[in-house]
Amino acid sequence: MTLQQIDDQIELVEGDRLELTVGAVAHGGHCVARFGPAPGRVVFVRHALPGERVIAEITEIHRGYLRADAIEIVVSSADRVAPPCPWSGPDACGGCDFQHVALPGQRSMKAAVIKEQLTRLGGLDADQVDALGVRVDALPGDIDGLGWRTRVRYTVAASDHAGLRKHRSNEIVPIDHCRIAHPSIQAVDVLKRPWPGVDSISVAASSTGELAVIADHHVVEGPERLTETASGRTWQLAAGAFWQVHPAAAEALTAAVAALLAPRPGDVVWDLYGGTGLFAGAIAETVGETGAVTVVEADPRGAVAAAANLADLPWVKVVNATVEAALRQRALRGAADLVILDPPRAGAGARVVRALAGSGARAIAYVACDPAALARDVRTFAEQGWELQLLRAFDCFPMTHHVECVALFTPAGAPAG
Ligand SMILES: C[S@@+](CC[C@H](N)C(=O)[O-])C[C@H]1O[C@@H](n2cnc3c(N)ncnc32)[C@H](O)[C@@H]1O
Repeated sequence: MTLQQIDDQIELVEGDRLELTVGAVAHGGHCVARFGPAPGRVVFVRHALPGERVIAEITEIHRGYLRADAIEIVVSSADRVAPPCPWSGPDACGGCDFQHVALPGQRSMKAAVIKEQLTRLGGLDADQVDALGVRVDALPGDIDGLGWRTRVRYTVAASDHAGLRKHRSNEIVPIDHCRIAHPSIQAVDVLKRPWPGVDSISVAASSTGELAVIADHHVVEGPERLTETASGRTWQLAAGAFWQVHPAAAEALTAAVAALLAPRPGDVVWDLYGGTGLFAGAIAETVGETGAVTVVEADPRGAVAAAANLADLPWVKVVNATVEAALRQRALRGAADLVILDPPRAGAGARVVRALAGSGARAIAYVACDPAALARDVRTFAEQGWELQLLRAFDCFPMTHHVECVALFTPAGAPAG
């Protein structure tokens, strides 16, 4: 039965179908619809597009909202396409939220989410957001949004075969191959073999053509260390260590950070949440030996790799600590001229942002993989008298709702660029 009108007395259960007009895209890969007498119950609808009329099946019922999957499209958006992956959609692999959307439409939806987060969580008004001219750029060489993912983690099911998880579920979907994975990852036969006693299988493909298979935390095929190239340098890292997942991302993000910060010879730079030293390496030569670059990385394996990767640049120092501890313990001595921060999804948080606002820096570049976390930190920067001056966004994760932003903060009143 499909419910078209409802009054508050009708009790909904999972599996009920609702006919809905779909509204704006929201953070998290779904769109917002309302159901029932005004103002209506909020329904977060996956596999839909703004403006569509859909039949949606309820998947979760919560006190203030419902979750649902669009299972039939009554009136379709011009941005709708046939998903290139047969494993996407309701009741299938949960990895890609936007397979049913043309790439330009995916990027418009991501730009809309960034703007909405900056307004709702970041506290910016409509004029401030408009002035940023937010748009999401494709990465160079990305033609169809497929075959880009150079790190893939599969989960091993009770059958001992690896697959990908369903959305918000522990159920494992036994796929043939992942369409967004790099071709060399699609070619390796890890999905055909049983993996008894193993929880997860990760496969990493490096920009230099190496391939490593990692069962739980142990490399079982390929090199223990991978070699990557970016911004004119070579990087060695453990096969399971963090590296930008899209093959064009490291280059695009380092170029954006360097362009926004415009480092000068003699600058003191902090590269926080520095991983294997990607951003430090990209700007250290410009800063030169009259300057100083400090990388702060919490993971000892990342810090050791960063120190080795940047050993030819003696004015670069690597501190193995959390950013919070490094700021507290004065591992970051004196004032900085420039700060780069690339925190995990949770963002830097208010304490770190407040400390950075007092660092004396003339500019801060913030690389963010979650626009909501970035927006919360935008608000804290503003409270400290810093403004979000420029924002670039990159489609580092096509077919998914994820997006990478690079934001430039300067003390309020500082001249642009
Ligand atoms: C998004 S990655 C960025 C790495 C690096 N900037 C790059 O692009 O390759 C975030 C990094 O922050 C590190 N990290 C997480 N929490 C941290 C903390 N509180 N302090 C310092 N580093 C942290 C992680 O180990 C990871 O290497």
